[in-house]
Amino acid sequence: MEKPFNLILVIFGATGDLTSRKLLPALFSLKNQGLMPDKCAFIGVGRSEKSVEDFRNDMEKAVREFLEDKDAGISNIKQFTACIDYFKMDYQSPGDYEKLRQEIEKISAARGTGGNIIFYMATPPSLYEVIATNIAKAGMGVQNDGFRRFIIEKPFGYDLESARNLNKTLHMLVQEDQIYRIDHYLGKETVQNLLVTRFANGIFEPLWNRNYVHRIEITSAESMGVEDRGGYYDGSGALRDMVQNHLLQMVGLTAMEPPSSLEADAIRNEVLKVFQSLQPIKEEDVEKQVIRGQYTPSKIRGECVTGYRYEKDVDVHSRTETYVAIRFYIDNWRWGGVPFYIRTGKRLPTRVTEVVIHFKQTPHHLFRRVMGKLSGNQLIIRIQPDEGMLLKFDMKEPGAGFNVKNVNMDFHYKDLADARMPSAYERLLYDVMLGDSTLFSRDDEVETAWKFIEPIQKAWKNNPAIKVYGYPAGTWGPEPSNSLIEGEGLMWRYPCKNMADEELYCEL
Ligand code: BG6
Repeated sequence: MEKPFNLILVIFGATGDLTSRKLLPALFSLKNQGLMPDKCAFIGVGRSEKSVEDFRNDMEKAVREFLEDKDAGISNIKQFTACIDYFKMDYQSPGDYEKLRQEIEKISAARGTGGNIIFYMATPPSLYEVIATNIAKAGMGVQNDGFRRFIIEKPFGYDLESARNLNKTLHMLVQEDQIYRIDHYLGKETVQNLLVTRFANGIFEPLWNRNYVHRIEITSAESMGVEDRGGYYDGSGALRDMVQNHLLQMVGLTAMEPPSSLEADAIRNEVLKVFQSLQPIKEEDVEKQVIRGQYTPSKIRGECVTGYRYEKDVDVHSRTETYVAIRFYIDNWRWGGVPFYIRTGKRLPTRVTEVVIHFKQTPHHLFRRVMGKLSGNQLIIRIQPDEGMLLKFDMKEPGAGFNVKNVNMDFHYKDLADARMPSAYERLLYDVMLGDSTLFSRDDEVETAWKFIEPIQKAWKNNPAIKVYGYPAGTWGPEPSNSLIEGEGLMWRYPCKNMADEELYCEL
């Protein structure tokens, strides 16, 4: 694999959770695999007073705790943390950016990293514009002695207007090809595998359209609540936190046309076309096509679980949604009339993300007498956990007659002896270092995704009568979300149906 050029990575918001839980373990893992540049340095930037020594110790602890691949060894951790520095600054002070520039020059000279710099915005989103503007003012955005790349964490804006404004500001400072908007779902192996499944196999693609597909369902369920992120989450909610980015990107890769090549823009153009073809949900239809919910207190496997409104830093009267389910259509030749259902929620019974392709029934049901209704074929692409693919189809039960049984053909990534699933951040950081933007969202993609979300945001804001349904923590979300699924007797797929909901919780 290619080794990136020497560089400095500057992380703004380095004392936050993202840096310790995801970024540093990912960088360490890349180093272990020999995928970091020969010479590189990391500068953590934060608002708190901290010595370099303390910061290095914090990062060592973080790597020890959060490194996914512990078998890879951790003996060279000191060598890794020796490349880390800390710089305290006030993000609003132009003078501090001047000092940061000098610090970068000093470190680059001492470590021989040359002029390449990557700036990673891992701060609260409200700081992105001010940081980018001041970096440019301090002359750090100019690419004369090496590349300058900007990684922007999600959420990219709060709505269409703020996303447009953020894009406008960034474009005044740097070129679009210097900007890497992170959506960590695109860094997941199994999300990328959607492309391979579809475009490397002759058997799936001919069926991947309205003639054979009855409906498509995408679920991203989490069993955790908001934990200590209540402050951020209460101002965001599931629609902004998960749907506008992660879920729509999965829709894009599931529904797109074959790209002309694997070039970043070839793929992103096709995803953009899907977003442009999303049938807008009219404000007055939001109540019918979108269900929102919020988890309420319950008892899960004997343990009391707090309701969303009683979580730390959450308003006790909050109407922020922790669950969203949407029915929508894609107005193009491939998908005309095929309903897409997406849902995401916190405090659901399990953590699972999957894409389910429900194929149409056979035109004539030969086995009706013995079988009643056929179950229909399903292709389930399990994004996480237990990454893999499952094909469900009907088979004859051995014995007399024609009894039909629904069976599974199941592939698990973990069965590949040499399979190592790199973390999403590992893949994405490596790609930025190489300058490959394929797995990052482009300006027009982000804005078009917000455009689809906008009427939902407006309806919820303008019409408080639209219900926020309560659902007991540990259940599959509010009951009315089932009414979104069109067709008699049809319902969401329940990935862990064996565990009856009643066993999991009882309402307090
Ligand atoms: C983040 C959201 O982008 O994705 C979190 O902000 C969410 O609220 C997380 O928990 C889910 O990511 P993953 O990789 O655990 O599915």
